[in-house]
Amino acid sequence: MSESIVTAANFAFISQLLRDHCALVLEPGKEYLLRSRLMPVAQKLGVADINQLIERLRQGGDRGLLTQVVEAMVTTETSFFRDLHPFETIRKFILPELIQRRRSLRQLNIWFAASSSGQEPYSMAMLLNEDFPELINWRLNLLGTDISNEMLQRARLARYSQMEVNRGLPGELLQKWFRKDGDHWQLNERIRTMVTFSQMNLAQPWPTMPSWDLVFLRNVMIYFDNSVKSNILGRLSRVLHSDGYLLLGGAETTLSLDDSYYRIETLKSGFYQLKPS
Ligand SMILES: C[S@@+](CC[C@H](N)C(=O)[O-])C[C@H]1O[C@@H](n2cnc3c(N)ncnc32)[C@H](O)[C@@H]1O
Repeated sequence: MSESIVTAANFAFISQLLRDHCALVLEPGKEYLLRSRLMPVAQKLGVADINQLIERLRQGGDRGLLTQVVEAMVTTETSFFRDLHPFETIRKFILPELIQRRRSLRQLNIWFAASSSGQEPYSMAMLLNEDFPELINWRLNLLGTDISNEMLQRARLARYSQMEVNRGLPGELLQKWFRKDGDHWQLNERIRTMVTFSQMNLAQPWPTMPSWDLVFLRNVMIYFDNSVKSNILGRLSRVLHSDGYLLLGGAETTLSLDDSYYRIETLKSGFYQLKPS
């Protein structure tokens, strides 16, 4: 396998392809990223180098190859109880309030809009089990979506390495909800079956959705340009319940993108609600 330089034309082609397909912005100067992410794909397919791989993509018609390239290019970094503080806020303020408001309906709809390998929704499912036993007879609709089928498969399996459980998962939750299986940890069925996973590209048309009480949209919009961010936030405002909550990642905001939201300053960690209409 040769370590050849990606030609400028090929870099421009693949940047545009990624932007069109999944909104991912690959800025000039990120050639090293392209190389490191696509070398394994080329190797797996027995293609001599990345320029040849891109040449194959240029010929078009190979959906499977496009999927492999997208899956290789997206950043899937995640962890249990990531950033901790938002989960504390959900436990102390957001869930008690939502439970109060939905007490006659007895249903909560929670969407994890870029759920990667599942640690984020499963953290929430564990939290619901641990701290809100009164929800036992409620309908809890927890949906994880992601563009990456590979990540969705991993999420559905709910089998994590030692390193993954070491990141953010408290020891008592590991002992209570996971079983050691070889060198991995298998999540208990009760938590696993609380979450359903489905493939969804945020940059393409969305399926029909229920009204969400809480939406996690963390650490995914950072990879998109402003017009895509505005578009996503606009569509989200139509499926977020009027008193529901949106949670963004630490480096994300709605500011200058969509003025139908306001940030709840008292909650610190990036929670937003819709302004009253
Ligand atoms: C950095 S991870 C964030 C995971 C989790 N939300 C967290 O904060 O820990 C970003 C995820 O967004 C997904 N993603 C990237 N582009 C997407 C798109 N256009 N539609 C849906 N998901 C996308 C990736 O596959 C990846 O799993």
